[in-house]
Amino acid sequence: MVLISGAGSNLQAIIDRCTDGFIPAQVAAVISNQADAYGLTRAREAGIPAHCLDHRDFQRRVDFDAAMIDLIDSFSPDLIVLAGFMRILGQDFVERYLGAMLNIHPSLLPLYPGLDTHQRALADGAKNHGASVHFVTAELDGGPILIQGHVPVEPHDTPETLAQRVLTVEHQIYPQAIAWFAKGRLRLSDGRAMLDGIPVLVPGNIPETFFNLSTEPEQ
Ligand code: GRF
Repeated sequence: MVLISGAGSNLQAIIDRCTDGFIPAQVAAVISNQADAYGLTRAREAGIPAHCLDHRDFQRRVDFDAAMIDLIDSFSPDLIVLAGFMRILGQDFVERYLGAMLNIHPSLLPLYPGLDTHQRALADGAKNHGASVHFVTAELDGGPILIQGHVPVEPHDTPETLAQRVLTVEHQIYPQAIAWFAKGRLRLSDGRAMLDGIPVLVPGNIPETFFNLSTEPEQ
């Protein structure tokens, strides 16, 4: 189950890696909170059920969340993948799917949670930037990290050129994380991400210790 709000390039990468067998699973459905999200078209073209649930049709966040839960549960998914889904989900929602919901964020968390990550990295003169996949917890962009991908910042980068290179890395690391989950290798245990029963160590922002997937991910 993939939740989107926009272009859906991560969704496309996930669909492609399900189709070629890298991810041993299928996308059960796609839900967008924006009717014009191009990702809905991508889903339909792949023969995947595509639904829009517009948050503006709900006065209260809890009502939107409840409608989302009803729709999601009607597909009985094993995993919920937030792929450019631009709504903050309430605590009940997060707790319901704890350990079964992933998000991708375009920065090397814990650096730059929230919006405008590429712009902020450039403004700081960062030499290194990237993306992170994490379990979703109540803390915004703060759940345990599973995998990160690095992108060196080039002297002439703009937020747009940097975003484009980060997206390329996103399209590698998200399918990798989902494949691990689908194979039963990844779980959330006592607030820690575990891969093959071993805690995934992504300590702070020490670049040398990050996973680096600038080349093809492993199986
Ligand atoms: C990605 O950069 C993702 O990390 C962020 O929103 C963007 C979505 O892109 N949360 P797409 O819709 O997958 O193309």
